[in-house]
Amino acid sequence: MLTNPYPDSCTFFAASLSSKLSLASLPEEESFVQNIKAESRKKSYLLGRHLARKALCELDPTLASFFIKTGEHNEPLWPHGLIGSLSHSTEIACAIVSSFERTLALGIDVEPIHRTLSQDISRKVCDESEKAWVQAVPAEENLRLLSIFAAKEAIFKALFPLYQKMFWFDAVSLSWENELHGFNATLLFEPHPQLRKGTNIPVNITYECDHVTASVLVPQVTYTPRP
Ligand SMILES: CC(C)(COP(=O)(O)OP(=O)(O)OC[C@H]1O[C@@H](n2cnc3c(N)ncnc32)[C@H](O)[C@@H]1OP(=O)(O)O)[C@@H](O)C(=O)NCCC(=O)NCCS
Repeated sequence: MLTNPYPDSCTFFAASLSSKLSLASLPEEESFVQNIKAESRKKSYLLGRHLARKALCELDPTLASFFIKTGEHNEPLWPHGLIGSLSHSTEIACAIVSSFERTLALGIDVEPIHRTLSQDISRKVCDESEKAWVQAVPAEENLRLLSIFAAKEAIFKALFPLYQKMFWFDAVSLSWENELHGFNATLLFEPHPQLRKGTNIPVNITYECDHVTASVLVPQVTYTPRP
């Protein structure tokens, strides 16, 4: 299964959709999936909530039955003082949780490594410099595009709860950095007073279990833009 890409300040769980749940689903979760038609989406929702509750429980055992509601913009609503992020594919799901005291923002995204993204998606997702990086190695083109896509989805999940408004793929610009094993994401907007325009946020990228995983963690310190 996926290895934990986060530091010890976070609790991470990942599992295959075919695995057995070790905590029973909550009645509220069962009732939520009644309105979902696709079986795979039902499964991924329940597994995601299950892993997220396991992570919450590790931080505070009284949260074993905490129902993580879905907000108006589909964001998971965490208990007071905690933050987290969820992602799933048709094969796996994962959840990450930390305390807001230590972590300002958390985001995760998994994409099946064999997913092919269309030219249309490429146009929507990449700016000119990202496109140049994607096209620099023809044999890696799709993998590079997937990595950019996953990184931007993880950034969206991390920053939406702070910003509380939608933002799109042109809100950040990514550049690959080998030492980071991922991207430096430069913010082209200000989602939060601690995250000014020009701030750089690292996005870790891993390739394992036939998935691209992008993970974002912004600690509780003030970031300053590079001069
Ligand atoms: C929301 C979005 C990022 C979800 O990604 P996805 O690859 O389709 O699906 P994943 O399985 O990885 O993630 C789904 C989970 O994301 C989380 N999520 C959804 N909307 C969210 C939001 N507004 N804020 C934070 N997390 C959100 C939810 O936990 C959801 O799982 P759940 O419904 O079971 O609770 C994507 O559908 C989307 O709307 N993207 C457009 C916005 C964007 O990416 N902008 C780029 C900014 S640089």
